[in-house]
Amino acid sequence: MGAPPDALARVESLRQQLALHNYRYYVLDDPLISDAEWDQMLRELIDLEHHYPELISADSPTQRVGATPSDEFASARHRVPMLSLDNAFSDEEVRAFDRRVRERLELADTAPAVRYSAEPKLDGLAISVIYEKGQLVRAATRGDGTVGEDVTANIRTIRAVPLRLNGHAPALIEARGEVFMPRAGFEQLNRQAAERGEKVFANPRNAAAGSLRQLDPRVTAKRPLEIFFYALGSVEGMTFPVSHSETLSALKELGLRVSPETAQVEGAEGCLQYFASLQRRRATLDYEIDGVVYKVDSLVSQSRLGFLSRAPRWAIAHKFPAEEATTLLREVEFQVGRTGALTPVARLTPVVVGGVTVSNATLHNMDEIERKDVRIGDTVVVRRAGDVIPEVARVVISRRPSDAQAVRLPSHCPVCGAAVRREPDAAVARCTGEFSCKAQRKERLRHFAARRALDIEGLGDKLIEQVVDAGLVATPADIFTLTRGQLAALERMGEKSADNVLSAIERSKETTLARFLFALGIREVGEATAAALAQHFGSLEALLGASFEQVQQVPDVGPVVAAQLTDFFARDENRRVISQLQQAGVRWPRIDSRSAQMDQPLTGLTFVLTGSLESMSRDQAEDRLRALGARASGSVSKKTSYVIAGADAGSKLAKAEALGVPVLDEAALIEILDQRRLPN
Ligand code: IVH
Repeated sequence: MGAPPDALARVESLRQQLALHNYRYYVLDDPLISDAEWDQMLRELIDLEHHYPELISADSPTQRVGATPSDEFASARHRVPMLSLDNAFSDEEVRAFDRRVRERLELADTAPAVRYSAEPKLDGLAISVIYEKGQLVRAATRGDGTVGEDVTANIRTIRAVPLRLNGHAPALIEARGEVFMPRAGFEQLNRQAAERGEKVFANPRNAAAGSLRQLDPRVTAKRPLEIFFYALGSVEGMTFPVSHSETLSALKELGLRVSPETAQVEGAEGCLQYFASLQRRRATLDYEIDGVVYKVDSLVSQSRLGFLSRAPRWAIAHKFPAEEATTLLREVEFQVGRTGALTPVARLTPVVVGGVTVSNATLHNMDEIERKDVRIGDTVVVRRAGDVIPEVARVVISRRPSDAQAVRLPSHCPVCGAAVRREPDAAVARCTGEFSCKAQRKERLRHFAARRALDIEGLGDKLIEQVVDAGLVATPADIFTLTRGQLAALERMGEKSADNVLSAIERSKETTLARFLFALGIREVGEATAAALAQHFGSLEALLGASFEQVQQVPDVGPVVAAQLTDFFARDENRRVISQLQQAGVRWPRIDSRSAQMDQPLTGLTFVLTGSLESMSRDQAEDRLRALGARASGSVSKKTSYVIAGADAGSKLAKAEALGVPVLDEAALIEILDQRRLPN
């Protein structure tokens, strides 16, 4: 009994629609339907194929996962060798590459700049995918460049790889690209592995490679793999385009995903500009790249340039400085933070990581040390990404000396000698010395005087060290008792600097309740919570009088924060400091909380400010937005309502544009603040 014609028609139509929507989603990055609608169509197709198995075809989207795992991968010989790339590590090496290209092409000095295609160097693994008459027939890893492994069954499970090409496909086309695992997917995969007590992958590239080299395609199907295509291998029944950029357009038209970051640039200087701009945006990409590839765009020029051993003369990979390096862990010391938390810090043999010399790196806490099995004397991998604090990523176990020593949590604070307490189930160990611990004192004062707190200009790390060591200041209230004579007597302080500091201290007295609460350094009370508390209670007195339950009425305040607050305000010492501060003249405008709450036209909106504003500082703008009920955040996400971009806005602006978050300029911000509403 054959399938009825309408079932056949429906199956065909579903497959076509599913392929179209996959193309819109992955290749054009412009989906027309929701994931749920896509899933529903797929389910309908699965049902139909279940009823009429004779309608199943190899290119049906239901057939991505083949049933049988294999014992080993078959080898696959490449029709055209898969080459590697030469590397450049400096601007000078890129200029030298461009000069070599010009010489080989016999271009006169006066001839125009060479046009290059510049694209991200994706950190995954190279793959070749062959389509015959539009059908995916084979996929292979690069292997040694001549022979790779046949991973067709696994590549078929990657949804971004079409099983059938769009439109009028040539007799044969071999597309080459990079399979990679996006950061978010990698982190989730590792979290799941850790929960099950399984081995985690060191980085997304290893995770991608490990996922593709699974003998059971059902495992690969569960891994979040993606792909960008960046080259043609061999083709039959189609004329080659004339340039690399046209090749990419042709791939895209056939339904093969290419990187949206690719650009055409002119000469070495164009390459270097592209490099700098991609390096700035690197952290905003949701996958890892390790540099930029420049390719001579004209294919005629490419063939004139030819190859040298395993790499083409017409392309080069310009690598970002390595973000990881190995070095020796000489010692572990414990730093005491504002809340007494002991942070283990690795003292290293200095090493250059990402272009910066690193001699200290964080080990986070004792749990991390145990998890990574870090010992003193180990050779460790240090990682530094963007602006984050360098960390010890892992140990090179094979290089562990026999006398490597375990790291011990000290029983007493290395600064004040008070007992160290580690609460059960908590990763953090703390010094119990509180204000009597000089390290905690200094950190609390540093926090109190910081720009986003009381903003006491000139009272920096160095001066805090001095006034605490000299016994002049122990609590924030003591700052306001400092005299000109005391300050001027300190090393490297003259009367002039003393006066400057004193007037900064004077200016800081005029503040806001939110800043004041934040400045107190109560555990779990960051800027946003402080602002919410100020807004809700309107006055310090109201907050001090609030019960544990009442504090939890504030948005975002749960039992943990509430416990910290009530604990903090219950202590005589803290109450005393607060009243001393008020007596010293620290003051803020009263917030009429009821009317303030009713008059919060920007409630529910999140703003991110970036770049510099002309008419006010970023902090001032954030304070004013908060006063209207908005949230001010430091990072752009899909949840951001608006990004306000001042002059020289950088990566946050780029990210907003990438995510489609509306961007406003300073004039629009001023209008919002003045009109107390969003522009029309
Ligand atoms: S082109 C003849 N383009 O880098 C040129 N490769 O170091 C062959 N790679 O094996 C490759 N991103 O795995 C090219 N946009 C890109 C790339 C890229 C990453 C990898 C690829 C290749 C390796 C060479």
